[in-house]
Amino acid sequence: MSRKKISVIGAGNVGATTAQRLAEKDFCDVVLVDILEGMPQGKALDLMQSGPICGYDSMVTGTNGYEETAGSHIVVITSGLPRKPGMSRDDLLKVNAGIVKDVTLKAIAKSPDCIIIVISNPLDAMTYVAHKHSGLPANKVMGMAGILDSARFRCFIAMELEVSVTDVTAFVLGGHGDTMVPSTRYTTVAGIPVEDLIPGPKLESIVERTRKGGGEIVALLKTGSAYYAPAAAAVQMCESIVLDKKMILPCAVLSSGKYDGCDGLFVGLPAKIGEGGVEEVVKFRLSEDESAALSKSAGEVRMLCEAVDRLGF
Ligand code: APR
Repeated sequence: MSRKKISVIGAGNVGATTAQRLAEKDFCDVVLVDILEGMPQGKALDLMQSGPICGYDSMVTGTNGYEETAGSHIVVITSGLPRKPGMSRDDLLKVNAGIVKDVTLKAIAKSPDCIIIVISNPLDAMTYVAHKHSGLPANKVMGMAGILDSARFRCFIAMELEVSVTDVTAFVLGGHGDTMVPSTRYTTVAGIPVEDLIPGPKLESIVERTRKGGGEIVALLKTGSAYYAPAAAAVQMCESIVLDKKMILPCAVLSSGKYDGCDGLFVGLPAKIGEGGVEEVVKFRLSEDESAALSKSAGEVRMLCEAVDRLGF
C-alpha cells in the first residue's frame, strides 16, 4: 500500500513548517506548492535531505503546478498574506479570498475526493470560500484555528501553574478573532477545574491574552505571523484523519442546528475528526453567557462571509 499524499499549498512559513512536521511524522508523502519559482522545490529537497538524519522516509516534492498533487488525500491551504503589526485578520479578507478561491479550484480539479484543511486568514471566512468553490460535502472541509487557540490557552495556564502542558485540557470555541470564546468552565488541569486553581482576575487575564495571542506574536515578529504552532495544529488534524484517530478537536466546521447563531457557518466547534473528515459536530451544554458569546462571535464570522459574497468570491 502506498502512503497517503498530503498537498500543502503555500510554501511560506506556515506551509513549509507544516511540510516539515508532516515529514517528521512519517505517515504520508508531502507535495509542497507555491507560485514562487524554485522555492517549493528547494525547500522540498532540503526536507528530503533531512530524512536520513531524522529517520523518516516521507517523500517531499516541491512544485509550482498541481500535476504532482493529483490524488491527494488531504489538501492543506496556507497560501495567502499573513498579518503585519496593526492589522487584524479581517484586513486580509479581500486578497486572501481571491487566493483561496484560485488554489481551491486548481487543487480540487486534481483531487476531487480530497479533504481540505484551511489555515489562511481570516480563517472561518476562508474555510467558507474553500467549501463554496470545492463543491465538496461540508464534512470534507474544515479550518484550523481552535486547536491553535486552545494550545495558546493551555500553554498560558501551564506557565501560570508551573505544570505540564499535557495535564491541561481546554478548548476555545467561536471565530478565530478577538471574540473567540475560551471556555474556562470546561478547562481542567489533571481533571481539576481550572477555576479552582487560578483566581478569577488572573484567569480572565489569561483568557484575554489567549484572545490576542496571535497579535502578540505579530507585534514581536514584525514581518509576519505565527507558524510553528499553527503548523503543529494542522498536522494534528491530518494525523487524526490519516490514522482515523477520531480525536475530538476544536475546528472550524459547518454548524447545522446544534449551536445558537452558528447555523450555516464554518465556525470553531468541537468535532470528531477521522477518516471521513468531520464525522460529528459534538454538542455540549453551554451556559447562557457562553452561548451568547459564541453567538456574538458567530455573528462576526457571518458578516465576513457576507462580505466575501458581496466581493464576488
Ligand atoms: N498559490 C500558491 N501559493 C501562493 C499563492 C497562490 N495563489 N499566493 C501566495 N502564495 C504563497 C506565497 O508565495 C508565500 O510563499 O503563500 C505563501 C505564504 O507564506 P508567508 O508569506 O510566509 O505566510 P505564512 O506565515 O505562511 O501565512 C500564510 O496562514 O496563518 C495564516 O494569516 C496567515 O493567511 C496567512 C497564511
